Amino acid sequence: MAEQWAKHDLEFLAGRRLRRSRATGWSRAMVRETVLTPADLIWPLFIIEGHNERTAIKTMPGVERLSIDLAVAAAKAARDAGIPALALFPNTPDHLRSEGAEEAFNPDNLMCRVLSAIKSAVPDIGLIADVALDEYSSDGQDGLVRDGKILNDETVAVMIKSALAQSRAGADIIAPSDMMDGRVGAIRGALDAGGYEDRQIMSYAAKYASCFYGPFREAVGTGARLKGDKRTYQMDYANSDEALREIAQDIDEGADSVMVKPGMPYLDIVRRAKDAFDVPIYAYQVSGEYAMIEFASAAGGFNREAAMLESLFAFKRAGCSGVLTYYALEAARVLGR
Ligand code: PBG
Repeated sequence: MAEQWAKHDLEFLAGRRLRRSRATGWSRAMVRETVLTPADLIWPLFIIEGHNERTAIKTMPGVERLSIDLAVAAAKAARDAGIPALALFPNTPDHLRSEGAEEAFNPDNLMCRVLSAIKSAVPDIGLIADVALDEYSSDGQDGLVRDGKILNDETVAVMIKSALAQSRAGADIIAPSDMMDGRVGAIRGALDAGGYEDRQIMSYAAKYASCFYGPFREAVGTGARLKGDKRTYQMDYANSDEALREIAQDIDEGADSVMVKPGMPYLDIVRRAKDAFDVPIYAYQVSGEYAMIEFASAAGGFNREAAMLESLFAFKRAGCSGVLTYYALEAARVLGR
């Protein structure tokens, strides 16, 4: 009787033994559907004033803010590890933050200085410049504020000036992370008119109002300033169709590539975007996602390096052309060995 059941199962299973291809390392390698290489990794760096200065970020163990000279050294290490591009974020000194966020378009601001320092020392790495006002405004909002409201068109006008200053300083890719309406088209027009038609725009097209940005706000020094939230411009996390509208609009306005953010909790959005559009899609594994992996592995929940690689592969599987990740340098080195 037992033998008969076994025989029946064997026949039933003949063409359904999926474990066959998983049985050995060489076979797993043959059927692997996605790859992760250093070229998939974009490394965000936090920049501070000073020389030979590095400061810790409490909620992002292992990530440090770097002065410009150390950022240049980091850029060399990144290039040597095969990382194609860096995403730069300034921690603007407090006394330079203002209601009008004028520091955003000061040609000598921290952002412009780090752009030109890296561009001249490491010309073969791509530089992605974040454009948003939160890193320069006294309110910590991504836009100008009047009577408690975030102003759209007035904010875009400041962002244009900021993007031009960054381009002049050496930014290769302008990355508006603010979610104001119409900013991609406005920046594209200004770049073209200013002689920067060769600069790309990577738009944070589907950016959600998320608690996972918490550690980043500590890193750039906006957390304590921010009153209220960003829900009148960043997206409601209950929505997915709306993300496709945002992405379609940014492509229509001239975005060369688009981003979904945060990353891991939004891989469904990445997949929908990948199926619907033919532009490169990036995702940002944001500060809170990094913190989750760090704190859980420090508590013994799982192996840190394994979690790092598994999480990064998930982005590729979902359809990303690349990932902005605080793990970029470490992961590139692991992949390269
Ligand atoms: C600000 C900006 C944020 C991030 C990138 N650019 C924070 C925010 O919108 O409040 C978050 C990145 C991260 O959490 O790692 N324009």
